[in-house]
Amino acid sequence: MVLKYSVPREHINLQGGWPTPRLHPAAALEQASARLFSGPDIQQLLRYGPGQGVPALRENLAAWLTEEYQPSAGPISPDRVLVTNGASNGLATILQKFADPGYTRTIWMVEPAYHLAAPIFRDAGFAGRIRGVPEGEAGVDFEYLRAALREVERDLVLFGGGPPPGKSPENGYPKIYRHVLYMVPTFSNPSGRTMSLNDRTELVRIAREFDVLLVTDDVYDVLRWCPETDCGCFGTGAHLASPPRLVDVDRLLPGQAPFGHAVSNGSFSKIVAPGVRVGWMEGTPDFAKTLARVGATSSGGNQAHLASLIIGQLLASGDLQRHLRQVLIPTYRARYYAMVAAIRQLLYPLGVRIVGDDGLTGTSTSAQPAGGFFLYVLFPADGTLPHAAEIQRVALEEFNLRIAPGGLFSVADDGDDGASESRMARRPRAFVNGARLCWAWHEEGELVEGIERLAEALKTARSRRTVLPGRCER
Ligand SMILES: Cc1ncc(COP(=O)(O)O)c(C=O)c1O
Repeated sequence: MVLKYSVPREHINLQGGWPTPRLHPAAALEQASARLFSGPDIQQLLRYGPGQGVPALRENLAAWLTEEYQPSAGPISPDRVLVTNGASNGLATILQKFADPGYTRTIWMVEPAYHLAAPIFRDAGFAGRIRGVPEGEAGVDFEYLRAALREVERDLVLFGGGPPPGKSPENGYPKIYRHVLYMVPTFSNPSGRTMSLNDRTELVRIAREFDVLLVTDDVYDVLRWCPETDCGCFGTGAHLASPPRLVDVDRLLPGQAPFGHAVSNGSFSKIVAPGVRVGWMEGTPDFAKTLARVGATSSGGNQAHLASLIIGQLLASGDLQRHLRQVLIPTYRARYYAMVAAIRQLLYPLGVRIVGDDGLTGTSTSAQPAGGFFLYVLFPADGTLPHAAEIQRVALEEFNLRIAPGGLFSVADDGDDGASESRMARRPRAFVNGARLCWAWHEEGELVEGIERLAEALKTARSRRTVLPGRCER
């Protein structure tokens, strides 16, 4: 590695989406475990637990979710909630019970996509049948989605068009969806965007029309703050209310099917610690009950039993809520402000833009709340810079800085044999010429230094670039 500096500097990683270890509530977890093990019935902790999760915990979870989301359709009942061992395995479980490669036509991923969900779809038998749907300004490019759904329905004939050979209601699979659409609609990983209410509503309508299961990783929702440093709302303004999740919209719109067309996949990885491997899902009561009967849960009960009880203690004591309000949100908010300010000062003059930045003053990048772990920058497409993968290489090898280049978030399976040429021609790819940047791992000063190094990397890459007059290479 040839570093630009005579004294090699500390590595800065703006790629990884992990919380700084000092933010893990280790002491609160230790106390929660101690309280549990000093209780009257230790054996209850150590036995297999109920498939859907311990009822008292689901009650607490449902009450907390009701408080966070305040759904217009009314309080969330515990029978809508299932305890999982994290969002990743939650997704795998959904596919085990509600999808079948012999019947489910296509897995759609809003693109740029959370790249680590794709292997979960491939494991479930959908390799080569995963397609991207462009994100659009406010959520999803509906024209594209409708046309692509119609195309697949017209062209893809599975097993002669007959019933699925494997999973049937008689052998424990009461509902198999024709399509699955995966997305992170709030504070998206990777784009940082939040889908508008209009788009959420339209998506539920399309899902009902085409029998699509909408799977939303809602793992960043509660990490939200005001994008304006000088707003004066102190984090409590009405403009910071959580948007209804797709699962809320599905519940609210008249005519919901028994299994519904949306499931919310949540996780404590981002708001407690990734190692606890506990999450939850919310769907209709039929959906949640059926998920609790997936094979690996039938054999042995809930997959996160003991760890979920520790998290349950955090919820019941209010430690989790306090940790969110007093530690995580203030820390991430300050880091976000620092990072956005540094990008505006150092990268904007080089032609870089933050996705969703509407040019408001202050640190605001949008009229909506800011939150989550990530923002996304686009590099200028004027031919003066090499491609994002090369920028990433220069940043890493010469400035000891890691960024996540846009190509990582492209749906790799899309474009394989069978993708229609006209659809591929309509698929916008501007995001590939950008990068995702994360503020969860480093402290403010390191984030600013990371942006300084990125500015240096861009200048270095630009200085080596020879562009023939009048020629743009993109
Ligand atoms: C969108 C999204 N879903 C899921 C996960 C992983 O969640 P879990 O640790 O609960 O499996 C992540 C972690 O980066 C994520 O960003």
